[in-house]
Amino acid sequence: MKKNMNRLDHYQKLDKSRLPYHVAIIMDGNGRWAQERNLPRSVGHRTGMESLRTVVKLCSQLGIKILTVYAFSTENWKRPQEEVSVLMGLLYEYIKKELDELNREQVQVRVIGRLKELPARAQQEIKRAVELTANNNKLIFNIALNYGGRAEIVDAVRKLASLAIEGKIDPEEITEELMQQYLYTADLPDPDLLIRPAGEKRISNFLLWQIAYTEFYFTEVYWPDFREEDFLKALDAYQNRKRRFGGL
Ligand code: FPP
Repeated sequence: MKKNMNRLDHYQKLDKSRLPYHVAIIMDGNGRWAQERNLPRSVGHRTGMESLRTVVKLCSQLGIKILTVYAFSTENWKRPQEEVSVLMGLLYEYIKKELDELNREQVQVRVIGRLKELPARAQQEIKRAVELTANNNKLIFNIALNYGGRAEIVDAVRKLASLAIEGKIDPEEITEELMQQYLYTADLPDPDLLIRPAGEKRISNFLLWQIAYTEFYFTEVYWPDFREEDFLKALDAYQNRKRRFGGL
């Protein structure tokens, strides 16, 4: 096999009929990327935003149908107030700069997480993006904001418990399928591929329920350095996996 494969080599090698339908990404390493360059962490996040732009475009071009990215976790509030503000600011900037383009590209923007706990302005901007793109059908771009996998399961359980108390369902009727319908991702299939850059090999409370049979791809590359070629490499690795979903 060739040692230094470039973007085109990776692209040509891909079987376009066996692409993952749903890709999820934990966009990690912004802070370390900045630290290694003696830059403020905010520059790492801003550069990470550029990587996100590249990957959204590539997913849309390749015909991947769903991209879910972890932008802000329920634990990220523990960061200094200044960094939280930077991240919220980048969200506004991303929507402001990209919304027309996303709309032109037929991308449908969605958001998952405890949205009511986000600043009012963030909620307004999200609403604007979601409403404007609601009828687009090329790529679902799902942004996890104030998202936690455990919080999502708790929220689903609360809804089901209320229904049971109201006598609308019998607890015996609660199945995996019913649980799934009360998750934030109710109408979306589970991710086929989860990519985590920046070397850590953990899930960090992301899509806990949904990743039961997801293929994981880890790379050392920091998210701000993540390019088309890195995404194509992840797809290539995915295509070399044998998925059995617990069967033989
Ligand atoms: C993790 O890196 C990354 C985040 C907590 C934020 C991810 C956000 C972006 C890529 C840009 C924002 C885009 C939108 C649409 C809001 P880290 O800071 O934990 O990195 P480290 O582990 O190296 O410190």
